[in-house]
Amino acid sequence: MNDAKEEIKARLSVEDVVGQYIELKRAGRTFKGRSPWGVDKTPSFMVSPEKGIWHDFSANKGGDIFSFVMEVEGISFPEALEKLAAQAGVELKKYSGGDAKISRKKARMREALELATKYYQVALTKNKPVCEYVFYKRNMNRETVKEFRIGYSPKVGDALLKFLRGRGYSVDELDSAGLLNRFGRDLFKGRMMVPFIDTNGQVIGYTARVLDKSEPKYLNTPDTLLFNKSRYIFGFYQAKEAIRRDGFVVIVEGNMDVISSHQAGVKQTVATSGTAMTEQHLKILSRLTNDVRLAYDGDDAGVKATERAINMAGDLGINLTVISDYHGAKDPDELIQQDPKLWREAVQSSKPAMDWLLEKYEEKLDLLSAQGKKEYSDMAMKMIGNIADPVVRKHYEQLVAKRLDVSVEDLVAKRVEKGNVKKLKQVKTQAQNAKKVKILEDALLSIMMFGGEVGEGINLEVPEDETKLQELELIYETKYKTMAATELKGEVKELLRSYQVELKQQKIEELTSKLAEFEDDEEKSADILREIQKIQKG
Ligand code: UTP
Ligand code: MN
Repeated sequence: MNDAKEEIKARLSVEDVVGQYIELKRAGRTFKGRSPWGVDKTPSFMVSPEKGIWHDFSANKGGDIFSFVMEVEGISFPEALEKLAAQAGVELKKYSGGDAKISRKKARMREALELATKYYQVALTKNKPVCEYVFYKRNMNRETVKEFRIGYSPKVGDALLKFLRGRGYSVDELDSAGLLNRFGRDLFKGRMMVPFIDTNGQVIGYTARVLDKSEPKYLNTPDTLLFNKSRYIFGFYQAKEAIRRDGFVVIVEGNMDVISSHQAGVKQTVATSGTAMTEQHLKILSRLTNDVRLAYDGDDAGVKATERAINMAGDLGINLTVISDYHGAKDPDELIQQDPKLWREAVQSSKPAMDWLLEKYEEKLDLLSAQGKKEYSDMAMKMIGNIADPVVRKHYEQLVAKRLDVSVEDLVAKRVEKGNVKKLKQVKTQAQNAKKVKILEDALLSIMMFGGEVGEGINLEVPEDETKLQELELIYETKYKTMAATELKGEVKELLRSYQVELKQQKIEELTSKLAEFEDDEEKSADILREIQKIQKG
């Protein structure tokens, strides 16, 4: 695989790959642009053609073309490799050893699914009642049907099985692709076919809807070598450009909501399967933007899903809001059928997820009763405990206290009782601390490696990874090269001091969480406490 990586790097320039996503301007030996993640006011994204690397000073990320495509597209390394190999015209098959069999199988599955999709698309045009359902009942226009590759799976016999067998695909291959049921027959029959399209625009499965009221309403491809439900985001391929361009994403519950939304001109919309959003989904989306707007139903499932999302969002630095102004419609699709303009407006007036959630609970509970107050404050304090920003946290504490007519102190006392919340916060500060340490370490390393004499006083381990070294050189050239020696000396002194402080802090936090773990073991607790005191003094 390393050979393939090198071959691709040799053929594609970093500025061309990055330039597909952000506008780059030449600045001497490097290129500059705006961070695709950041809220940078001045261009803080650098590309060095000579080194073949990039570094984002606002988001503190960097690397080569592969890590860039992974980050910006929200895809895994193998996916990025595949994508860039295609661009470079490098045949991966030539390079792969042990997993050659699996890639071959995947390629066959993809081909079969591509053929199946074309087959379903043709079947749609030949069936008048289905066309009526798609074009009139669901109100899709031709462009939408084409873009989302909507089709129809015929009812008769094993239409698809026969067709694909005739094209040389084995039962085993079709089964692996998720096209057959447990009896080895066509899985999809008499349904409107909506393909799952991956980040490269290739079909990896389907969600298939009945045309009447029968059950189940939707039948989906099971997890296969190509399709993974907890990672897959419906509409991502069609939405990512708009998400990147406009800096926000809308998450809806239903796949049909995505399709209607795109047709209504809100092309930043995607869906996770129902309300089952996972941290992986959010992570993938957070690489493109931190403005995430949820458009879940206001029912209990929607409330629960929003609570879960709030908890996950905090850790990822996501600003989560909720779109709730449905004018009585049950979902975005229904609202769009009423009037697409109403949906466009709703998307622009989303409100902070915490506010929405508190309102929901206020509607549900009797805040004058003791039980209602307890449930409300339980929920509220659990959620507030996860807010990282102290000012925002205070804001909600005050809000909740006012609603319940109690003091903020009483509320906060309640939180201290809850051990699990404390633990969550500890993990978070540890992560923040680790990030700070890394930034300082990178700065110091860059001066140590490239700052000549001034760097001699720094004693850190030299990283071996070539890309990392190039990144450090870029950091040095951008931030420190122009400094006068005395100025740089002062900078190093300050960096070293901060680095020591952060390291100490990191150790203390590690020990503190260990302390919580051994709460009941007196001897061990005393040991740990002594250790903490030693670090604090030293
Ligand atoms: P909904 O029932 O809200 O779907 O389920 P919808 O988009 O409004 O469907 P229409 O408008 O009646 O066609 C939301 C999501 O839950 C999953 C699907 O992912 C669907 O998009 N779901 C629902 C299933 O997987 N199976 C089902 O039987 C129902
Ligand atoms: Mn619907």
